[in-house]
Amino acid sequence: MVRVLFVCLGNICRSPLAEGVFRDLVARAGLAGEIHADSAGTHAYHVGEPPDSRAQEAALQRGVDIGMLRGRKAARRDFETFDYILAMDRENHVNLLAICPRGLEHKLRLFLEFATDRPEDEVPDPYYGGASGFHRVLDMVDEASQGLLADIRARYLAGG
Ligand code: 4NP
Repeated sequence: MVRVLFVCLGNICRSPLAEGVFRDLVARAGLAGEIHADSAGTHAYHVGEPPDSRAQEAALQRGVDIGMLRGRKAARRDFETFDYILAMDRENHVNLLAICPRGLEHKLRLFLEFATDRPEDEVPDPYYGGASGFHRVLDMVDEASQGLLADIRARYLAGG
């Protein structure tokens, strides 16, 4: 099993959207039994809460239901459990590096590194904006999810 963790600040906007979109892509590729996705936040403000209603609505408009997800805080042990720890922005990356056990730094990446055709390398925080920000996030995570799946196929699933 390949394990992927998406991480943002609150775990109620960007990372649950990434988890939902990526999980949907994996299921449609017939790989749900081989790739596990989860999400977490670097801060604990929204632990136990469902995703922001604007995120849920934007995802549903694309056929992705994230209503069952609940916020949790990223932990040091996640670096042992997961193969990919994917930060939505540089601030998340810095905060994750601070809890990363020595020797596991290679697991930590910016998620948009996998969106090779995009000039941006950070997913902007949509929390203080309107619905369009959530759709922009969805466009970005859609593209990066495809690149991530290609990377997993090449590194872990090739020939299998
Ligand atoms: P997220 O967005 O990191 O994409 O989940 C945010 C959610 C909550 C807050 C900030 C950003 N907050 O300040 O509570």
